[in-house]
Amino acid sequence: MSDTRPIGIFDSGMGGLTVVKEVIRSLPNEKIVYFGDTARVPYGPKSKETIIRFSIENILFLLKNNVKLIIVACNTASSVALAAIEKNFKVPIMGVIEPGVSEAARITKNKRIGIIGTKTTVKSSAYEQQLIKIDSKIKVFSIACPLFVPLVEEGWLKTKITQQIVADYLMPLKNKNIDTIILGCTHYPLLKSVIQEVLGRKVHLVDSARQVAYGAKQILEEQGLLTNREKTARQSVCFYVSDEPDNFAEQGEKFLGFALNKVRKVSNV
Ligand code: DGL
Repeated sequence: MSDTRPIGIFDSGMGGLTVVKEVIRSLPNEKIVYFGDTARVPYGPKSKETIIRFSIENILFLLKNNVKLIIVACNTASSVALAAIEKNFKVPIMGVIEPGVSEAARITKNKRIGIIGTKTTVKSSAYEQQLIKIDSKIKVFSIACPLFVPLVEEGWLKTKITQQIVADYLMPLKNKNIDTIILGCTHYPLLKSVIQEVLGRKVHLVDSARQVAYGAKQILEEQGLLTNREKTARQSVCFYVSDEPDNFAEQGEKFLGFALNKVRKVSNV
């Protein structure tokens, strides 16, 4: 049995590419359809109702592309919309919160974990609730960093201003003695080196993208949905955005390390 249908992945913009990169690594023969909702980025400051609506529209778009699995490569949508939407669709849908939580709980030694994410993700306390479910002794310190997403969308990954902004946001975490921090937004791994510099080498950064990719592989295996085609995923990623395809192609190429042959602009609403 071979299922050659693509995997669908969406985010508000560039952030989900951190997940695409790991899916290509773990599932090199799968086709991918990516949708970045660049016309409506950022999702972070928006209400739960709005994010549920956007997520449903994004899923309906991906389903038109005949996807066999959907990865919500957005922490904001995963924390406030996933539970509400997954029961309405037959296709398997996975989010990014749980993989990051398991990884952080496995890594922490002193049970003091920092979480950074968008305002909506932090307000939802989705991470906190799941971490405490695994181990009630874990202490969580959460901070919303709303300026990180526009910096990443602009490709300002290592500028002086970026370093200053990251340092200011993370200041309150510096004296909390955390040994682990969850990058609770798929955009944030692009700022990894600056975040690591600010927090110091001793703090372990959890980027859930790799765990998400392993989780996707497991679902496809369990449900008999793997492909057996030989072509590489890298050659078969279709990128769609709802605005500004050129900026997406330019920043995306820098991050993924290969040219995004064609980024198509679509209206998904
Ligand atoms: N990258 C998304 C997340 O993981 C959304 C960020 C945003 O659009 O504010 O939360």
